[in-house]
Amino acid sequence: MKKILITGGAGFIGSHVVRHFVNKYPQYEIFNLDKLTYAGNLENLTDVEKMPNYHFVKGDIEDAEFIMNLFQKEQFDGVIHLAAESHVDRSITNPLQFIHTNVLGTVQLLHAAKTTWNGNYEGKKFYQISTDEVYGALGDTGLFSETTPYNPHSPYSAAKASADHFVRAYHDTFGMPTVISNCSNNYGPNQFPEKLIPLFINNIKHNKPLPVYGQGLNVRDWLYVEDHVEAIDLIFHQAKPGSTYNIGGNNEWRNIDLIKKLIEIMDRKLGRPEGTSLSLITYVTDRAGHDLRYAIDASKIKNELGWEPKVRFDEGFEKTVDWYLNNEEWFSHVTSGEYEEYYQKMYGNR
Ligand code: NAD
Ligand code: TYD
Repeated sequence: MKKILITGGAGFIGSHVVRHFVNKYPQYEIFNLDKLTYAGNLENLTDVEKMPNYHFVKGDIEDAEFIMNLFQKEQFDGVIHLAAESHVDRSITNPLQFIHTNVLGTVQLLHAAKTTWNGNYEGKKFYQISTDEVYGALGDTGLFSETTPYNPHSPYSAAKASADHFVRAYHDTFGMPTVISNCSNNYGPNQFPEKLIPLFINNIKHNKPLPVYGQGLNVRDWLYVEDHVEAIDLIFHQAKPGSTYNIGGNNEWRNIDLIKKLIEIMDRKLGRPEGTSLSLITYVTDRAGHDLRYAIDASKIKNELGWEPKVRFDEGFEKTVDWYLNNEEWFSHVTSGEYEEYYQKMYGNR
């Protein structure tokens, strides 16, 4: 029996992690701690909410007293920490929120885990889910490896980098069994439609302009969310304390090429003549400090843990588009805030 705390489990990646752990490990008790910000949606987890090994806890990782009481009461064996503010554009308009959640929230969790475990680290693990954006930006060539120096540019990546440093500090100073993974851009079902792919699917469907930042020449490496979850499972169970792994899809796309591919799929699925939606492409002012290119050297996780992405991009991309087209109700709820009503219905004032 293990008790595992997953933070941010109502968000995009977190909901896939929660589902995976609840279904695959019936012998574990899974606690999903989420504040339910605009990005947290319990409708992502309706299929597991009645499972006996699943518990939802509404709360803020920044609330020191609440977090300490939760750790003392539940005595978790492991923490998989995903709760964060995750959107670069929001970090440009409101950097302080990112320091609060991503930095202070992470340190509260570290402090509560350290205090509760009290030097008894046998069978314990604190796993920080981070991003490749902490490494900064690449030019046309090169890859981020685990030893690439941190060089974040956006308030989002600076806050994640800061949190990663604290996680390492708790390992190096207090001997806490921490691990970190830094992953490239995820895509798949349940992503909040402020991020490129779900936003553009929604806009194409409703014939709305597609705001392409700058010239659309920035490059991202895209990984199907379920592949990320498989890597998280392996790292959580097998990584040595103090270790770091990069996770990537070997799947680099210039934004404009990805958008054209998306348009091709969407026009076909919506029964529009090929190329119809290309006219929606609208070049807009570039994002401030826009990182040119991210790309990952994922050889360490392949060599040490045997992980590789399984989902081919063309297959994962079609599946993703189908999911959004078949889940119109999900879309309308997350864009209208109806999921807060869902929470009230399911959990009342808890
Ligand atoms: P998301 O924005 O979809 O979800 C974040 C979740 O955290 C939401 O459910 C939200 O309610 C919750 N949350 C926010 N503030 C909280 C607080 N103070 N207390 C408790 N819960 C809070 O994010 P995501 O895209 O699923 O990303 C999850 C994690 O993975 C983040 O740490 C992010 O940095 C990291 N990551 C994301 C990607 C990506 O492509 N999306 C890539 C690499 C790493
Ligand atoms: P995003 O999904 O926000 O992820 P990240 O910034 O973490 O990589 O954006 C992916 C890429 O798409 C990034 O280069 C910014 C660009 N982009 C646009 O061109 N237009 C948009 O409306 C959005 C949201 C993103």
